Amino acid sequence: MDEAAFTRHCADELEALIEREGADTIAAFIGEPVMGTGGITPPPAGYWDAIQKVLKKHDILLIADEVVTGFGRLGSMFGSAHYNIEADFITIAKGLTSAYAPLSGSIISDKVWKVLEQGTDELGPIGHGWTYSAHPIGAAAGVANLKLVDDLGLVKNARETGAYLKKAMTEAVGDHPHVGDVRGEGMLCSVEFVEDKEKRGFFDPAKKTGPAVAAALLKRGVIGRAMPQGDILGFAPPLCLTREEAGTIVSATADAVKEVLG
Ligand SMILES: Cc1ncc(COP(=O)(O)O)c(C=O)c1O
Repeated sequence: MDEAAFTRHCADELEALIEREGADTIAAFIGEPVMGTGGITPPPAGYWDAIQKVLKKHDILLIADEVVTGFGRLGSMFGSAHYNIEADFITIAKGLTSAYAPLSGSIISDKVWKVLEQGTDELGPIGHGWTYSAHPIGAAAGVANLKLVDDLGLVKNARETGAYLKKAMTEAVGDHPHVGDVRGEGMLCSVEFVEDKEKRGFFDPAKKTGPAVAAALLKRGVIGRAMPQGDILGFAPPLCLTREEAGTIVSATADAVKEVLG
């Protein structure tokens, strides 16, 4: 399938699922703007427009899980803005403090807020909290971090240096007979290994090809993640990455691929 056909397929599958289950039995649709742990997989072209059309038709809420994509990772402040997603909820965590201190949260739309507000008037407040909710250390780290993200222009850098990283990675390893795909968005990049490029045949997972490349890379001083969904090497470098550092990642990856796959 090409990307347009795959988008149509996904939207048709969603529509069929909703019809089978009944829209009133479905609380919400949840998805990441770009799949993170699932292989650093950007959506096919038009995906979010097509999915939102189906959800709107059936009045189903949309949760954008932006734990990975929030705060600049895709080269836009939010993945929702990047793909014109009008979410009812946005979940946030990692990039909010750049992990210097733990903090996570949920952003809710006016539509959802009004339900809570009205429900509180009618039924009393909703019981909702954690031991460490709104802890001042996490909140202070978040404020300081977001100021740095703005002051250092890190969202722009994620967009520009991330695009350079993907282009340089594609040029360095894209033609290798065992590299099936080089993909990414913003400061996310991944390389997927295949046994048979033409037939898109995967390696036997028992061979642990992805982990072997990640280990060969680590020997060269670069941390890549052997992702759990296949023989996929994932990169999520800091948003402050320089072009020179991107070049180091790319040349070490090319060497590691050569060592493991010839
Ligand atoms: C997209 C995404 N959502 C949610 C989580 C889990 O977040 P938390 O531990 O804050 O619940 C992760 C963790 O890696 C994630 O990648």
